[in-house]
Amino acid sequence: MLQRKILITGGAGFIGSHVVRLFVNKYPHYTIFNLDKLTYAGNLKNLQDIEQAPNYTFLKGDIAESAYIFSIFEQYQFDAVIHLAAETHVDRSIENPLAFVETNVLGTVNLLNAAKKIWTTSLKQSDAVTPVFYHVSTDEVYGSLDSGGFFTETTPYAPQSPYSASKASSDHFVRAYHNTYKLPVLISNCSNNYGQHQFPEKLIPLFINNILQNKPLPVYGKGENVRDWLYVKDHARAIDVIFHYGNVGETYNVGGQNEWKNIDLVRLLCKIMDNRLGKIAGSSERLITYVTDRAGHDLRYAIDAQKLMHHLDWQPSVSFEEGLEITVDWYLQNQTWLAEVTSGAYQQYYKQQYENR
Ligand code: NAD
Ligand code: TYD
Repeated sequence: MLQRKILITGGAGFIGSHVVRLFVNKYPHYTIFNLDKLTYAGNLKNLQDIEQAPNYTFLKGDIAESAYIFSIFEQYQFDAVIHLAAETHVDRSIENPLAFVETNVLGTVNLLNAAKKIWTTSLKQSDAVTPVFYHVSTDEVYGSLDSGGFFTETTPYAPQSPYSASKASSDHFVRAYHNTYKLPVLISNCSNNYGQHQFPEKLIPLFINNILQNKPLPVYGKGENVRDWLYVKDHARAIDVIFHYGNVGETYNVGGQNEWKNIDLVRLLCKIMDNRLGKIAGSSERLITYVTDRAGHDLRYAIDAQKLMHHLDWQPSVSFEEGLEITVDWYLQNQTWLAEVTSGAYQQYYKQQYENR
């Protein structure tokens, strides 16, 4: 069996932890290195079940530090990278865009430089594996849709938030390294994910937590913005398929064909929560509070994932209703996890974002 040394960045975060778990368990002959800075969004408790696995190593470090990145590539001679580390929350990007440039742009270029160096020198001599740099990105790089149409792989980039601008920039650098230096790359752009271990700054876990705390549910604007939701384990499965079978140099859109207006999603979530908590129907909905809209709020994202479905035979496996119930149940069963990540700095963040909104 083909041995590989794979660097996964951001593996202590939401999606990264699902990707690390999948690869560690499914490919015991691969050595998986998880590099993570452990920012507020990174949590090693997300990986407790696999941390003792013989094919798993955790490296604590910052992708924005080039000397460190070069040193680990020299030391471990990774032959593949699956790059997920990023600053990911749009609201935080509005407050502090530079942090997004440092991690998402500079951090990505540091990884590209280190991969280019190693793969054109030491690894060149070994022909056992074909190296690949797989960059995990978002559909937000395509900008905002009105009520019609979908993002395809050829939709021109039109990012509108500091977060999406930084991810678009990183995507451009990845393509530029392929075009200029022939670095073998893959890119995927995925729609909104939800599921276990998502940090409660994003819509679904934030609202689950607020219902549990009996706090208002702050719906931005009129709640009419539309997102296309995909269960996180289906995204991890897509990453596995693209990593192994994707055509080098190409981009794949990943999405669930599952568009929801925010307010409809919130109502469904409230219904599931009422049911699970044994509350009278309509109790959680009473917490819905319309608040000032997000600055520059993208109206609609919708992904056309036909390329991935037809060329690589991937399909989402979990319906939204089913995935949402699994997610709610996980948060209800893991309230210690939730309490830990919402203590300390989270309280300050919450106050700043939502007080007087
Ligand atoms: P997350 O915020 O939950 O986790 C990000 C992880 O990256 C954390 O573990 C954090 O500690 C780590 N990190 C941040 N800065 C770092 C640095 N400088 N050096 C090393 N590690 C650092 O993010 P997520 O939601 O899991 O997203 C993962 C990737 O998938 C991101 O690249 C994101 O753009 C992309 N993506 C996310 C979604 C989504 O809905 N969440 C959708 C499409 C694409
Ligand atoms: P979010 O989970 O932050 O993901 P993204 O902005 O990357 O799509 O937000 C999803 C949608 O929910 C988005 O339209 C903004 C909206 N939203 C609220 O209405 N209230 C909130 O408190 C949050 C965090 C998001």
